[in-house]
Amino acid sequence: MNMGKKVSAAAHPNLALVKYWGHRNTSLNLPANTSISLNLDGAKTETSVTFDAALEVDAISFNSKPAEVKVYQRMTRFLGLIREIAGIQTRACVVTENTFPESVGFASSSSGFAALALAGSKAAGLSLSDRQLSILARKGSGSACRSIPNGYVEWSAGDDDTSSFAFSIAPESHWNLAVISVIFSQVPKVVTSQQGHEAATSSPYFAARQASLPDTLTAVRDGIRLKDLTSLGMAVEREAISFHAIAMTSAPQQYPWMSGIYYWQPMTIHLLKAVQHWRHDGLPVYFTLDAGSTVHLLCEDAVLSDVRGGLLSLLKQLGVKADIVISHAGRGAWVIDNPDNEKTDGT
Ligand code: PMV
Repeated sequence: MNMGKKVSAAAHPNLALVKYWGHRNTSLNLPANTSISLNLDGAKTETSVTFDAALEVDAISFNSKPAEVKVYQRMTRFLGLIREIAGIQTRACVVTENTFPESVGFASSSSGFAALALAGSKAAGLSLSDRQLSILARKGSGSACRSIPNGYVEWSAGDDDTSSFAFSIAPESHWNLAVISVIFSQVPKVVTSQQGHEAATSSPYFAARQASLPDTLTAVRDGIRLKDLTSLGMAVEREAISFHAIAMTSAPQQYPWMSGIYYWQPMTIHLLKAVQHWRHDGLPVYFTLDAGSTVHLLCEDAVLSDVRGGLLSLLKQLGVKADIVISHAGRGAWVIDNPDNEKTDGT
């Protein structure tokens, strides 16, 4: 292969309703548990990949700058997996852009590795099935396997490399569920998700969470199927707190001075309490949050403007600024035929 074809692909980040937390196999990102998510159509990563025999090393640009060392190493390792499957040695030129901040609890690695898996595998001349793509994306970042299929997605923990992949459980048009993502801080978290996963089993409550997950998964699957926000929302909130309880009571090896991992900021807890008050006052809204201070509010479209109004007055009252991204369930990763059109129409 001299200069290969440039392939561009995009993917939405996904929001876990049942979180993946902890590994059974760290190098393969085999998760300790099955998880469920929806793709967030209000944000995306776009990535283009060209394999080029003239390159001696991979050339990776991330948000218009050369990728910093850790990001570069992670992405070049992943490109190595694609080269291995394709049976090539050629290095690649990668250009990747996010429409939203990284490492703040907005799952940037999910859309990042999903888009890279799709663009990279096609640029290497591979034509992988959705299942194979999901397995490949998982090895970049576990949650990335859930950004490959459409809409509402389940990632079956599986037993080994080939049985651990994600599939759609409902299309994006299934339900008018809205997600309001409230980003309080653009500063990347200190303890990465990868480090958090590795620390999870050190929590004395890890086994209890694992034992409760089958019931939670059933409640969330049923809530999506029946479009029942009341039962879905309660299960999702409790599940998010259970995941943070594990983080807060686990000891990350790399940070011996930390008694636990706190992904929250003071505003996070203000908003969680406000959501419970709004619900008490009759507004059907629920929260969830990943490994970061960003809070994601779930409500149906019918009350979206009321929830947004309540949120804006809370932020004003507390004198706090936040970026707000509104999403609905989005499609799985897709190839961009005409990258210039894609940029202007905002899809
Ligand atoms: O894919 P990772 O390694 O960034 O882990 C994601 C972890 C959570 O976002 C907290 C949960 C999840 O299932 O997405």
